[in-house]
Amino acid sequence: MKIVNLGSLNVDHVYRVDHFLLPGETKASRSMTTNAGGKGLNQSVAAARTGVDVYHAGYYGHGSEILIDALSRAHVKLDLLEEKDMPNGHAIIQVDDAGQNCILLYGGTNVCLTEEYVDHVLDECTKDDILLLQNETNLLPYMIEAAAKRGIPAAMNAAPMDEGVKNYPIGKLRYLIVNEIEGAALAGGDTFEETMANLIAAYPNTGILLTLGSAGAWFHDGDRDIRMGCAKVPQVVDTTAAGDTFLGYFLAGMLQKLDPAQALQRATFASALTIQKPGAADSIPNVNEVEAVMAAGTLGTLAVEDNHA
Ligand code: RIB
Repeated sequence: MKIVNLGSLNVDHVYRVDHFLLPGETKASRSMTTNAGGKGLNQSVAAARTGVDVYHAGYYGHGSEILIDALSRAHVKLDLLEEKDMPNGHAIIQVDDAGQNCILLYGGTNVCLTEEYVDHVLDECTKDDILLLQNETNLLPYMIEAAAKRGIPAAMNAAPMDEGVKNYPIGKLRYLIVNEIEGAALAGGDTFEETMANLIAAYPNTGILLTLGSAGAWFHDGDRDIRMGCAKVPQVVDTTAAGDTFLGYFLAGMLQKLDPAQALQRATFASALTIQKPGAADSIPNVNEVEAVMAAGTLGTLAVEDNHA
């Protein structure tokens, strides 16, 4: 029983600014740091910090020592990774005074995966595992189809959203994870409620996790429908990897057979801790830290609506 994340790895170059660059503007940044990131790597680290077995698969290239180090420190298994003689994926990230970010991606190794390599990774998966995917790599439709044929449950984070995602065989996924903007782009809807209703109608056999930023999260799966509020965070330092932390913790909870409401609660507090630290993978807490804040109640209690049909 493990998570196999056939996912992205990025070297993040993070620039602190008072406001994001405007068109035509040149400005000096206050600081620059280089961190381990990538939606895939962050999600692997988050899931592994709950204590479940996580294998990160994918390609890494030049300048990726920091990435391998971050995965190793989180006890993510590296056996399925392959090294390539080419530039690694990277991200240019601006973080403003409110802790919000904007991210420019360069795909590099992340978008050079081959079908043969995907098949090799799937050979290592069983029906008790969860295959995790993000839209930061190539071959998503092939991965989803191939996993479905083999009966391997797959979860996809449709980030970053693009036009191509609409044509992916999403109905064959076990879980789809989107934020409110990605959900609306995929299925339409002017409100959270409309978007969720459209996603459920489009993908009736897929568990849908809709993340709603400061409005919390909404999970719908078969006869279960749960809305979870947000934690009280004293100071937002950097929101980078908050969504990845939430996703990694939630899926790990599903693998551990936690009740979905419990998994959502733990994921919410985990991401509330992530945004109080700078950086991506290195800002993700381990499960003991999360359980300690839950027990102490320092980040408040969460509003929950839990409906069984
Ligand atoms: O979700 C945050 C991540 O998005 C960053 O670490 C960056 O690499 C981009 O993939």
